[in-house]
Amino acid sequence: MSTPGFSTLAIHHGYDPAEHHGALVPPVYLTSTFVFPSAEYGGQCFAGEAPGHVYTRISNPTLALLESRMAALERGAAAVAFGSGMGAITSTLWTLLRPGDEVLADTTLYGCTFAFLHHGIGQFGVKVRHVDMTDIAAVEQALHAGTRVVLFESPANPNMRLVDIAAVSALAKTHGATVAVDNTYCTPYLQQPLALGADVVVHSATKYISGHGDVTAGIAVAASAELAQRIRLQGLKDMTGAVLSPQDAALLLRGLKTLSLRLDRHCRNAMALARVLAAHPAVARVHFPGLQTDPFHALARRQMRQFGGMLAFELRGGAEAGKRFMNALRVVSRAVSLGDAESLAQHPASMTHSTYTPEERAAHGISEGLVRLSAGLEDEADLVGDVLQALEAVASTPAAVARAVAA
Ligand SMILES: Cc1ncc(COP(=O)(O)O)c(C=O)c1O
Repeated sequence: MSTPGFSTLAIHHGYDPAEHHGALVPPVYLTSTFVFPSAEYGGQCFAGEAPGHVYTRISNPTLALLESRMAALERGAAAVAFGSGMGAITSTLWTLLRPGDEVLADTTLYGCTFAFLHHGIGQFGVKVRHVDMTDIAAVEQALHAGTRVVLFESPANPNMRLVDIAAVSALAKTHGATVAVDNTYCTPYLQQPLALGADVVVHSATKYISGHGDVTAGIAVAASAELAQRIRLQGLKDMTGAVLSPQDAALLLRGLKTLSLRLDRHCRNAMALARVLAAHPAVARVHFPGLQTDPFHALARRQMRQFGGMLAFELRGGAEAGKRFMNALRVVSRAVSLGDAESLAQHPASMTHSTYTPEERAAHGISEGLVRLSAGLEDEADLVGDVLQALEAVASTPAAVARAVAA
């Protein structure tokens, strides 16, 4: 058989019903511990000299299936599952960084990743530096012998800046730095950073991989099995303990089966919304790489399969208009998170990115008026209709009309 395609891997990889009483759907191993056939064998398992599961915080057959499937989909060597995206990110960074090391991060990061760097690991002697990673010359200048980890998201949450993964990875390699990419917005269906030269990919699997808003989970996929094992044994087992429940792993395995179908629809809906927003007089700017006018359109065509289900925009009336817009929505829900069947809108400055100070947001390219929208799986016409009626509600306030006219 030729190499299976993405959806075939997402449905079948790593599982043979014949080994499980013919069960079509993998059984869930709801157990925290595992029985050793002898005391000696248990000791050998702990020493890494014999195969076998010993305790679910270290490994579990249901988690192992999810991990091997994610590794296949991301084209990595091995993966580790976590109880949240932040569990994946923090376990990976605790494993890679020591006091005195520097992490070079893009200017824009998810709010809690930013908080972890500045208020978490940064307190333990790890230096944190930000550079605009959309500027390759700036990255080259910023890298030095002490740079241990290069960390970025692409597209970045929330302002949709894209980083050239191949170019940054190649540069980082010349300085011996490990490249970690948060691939939450894309999933391996839309983008495979390891194939472009990154060393480790992290995910909030709470988002598209689950796809149904009922799980909090994370995954790290490494290009080398040795790095994955270090993240498991140091980061997960000893430092964070951020283990995923086997029951939630089963929900993620279910989510993976429809990931490609769902993302095709998310991407179509996002494109329709971006076009409608870009054409509306109340909208000052749309950030969506699928628009030909977007500064990242050409890069998106190179490194992404489609343009994704996330977009962000600024209204002419600023933050106040953004809140009026959100309050007028009827189909789209006002909620953080993303990648669910339900379309979700949120205001990063007061919600997901309130971990930055206003000054930090200004310095990191997160405008106070930005609205972030996760296009769900509803009918395109209903979403477009909802966004248009909410824009009309904003545009019809006297102050907003005056501002739109003045602009
Ligand atoms: C890009 C990105 N990375 C990481 C996370 C953290 O994931 P979790 O909420 O599953 O801990 C999020 C959450 O919104 C995110 O958007």
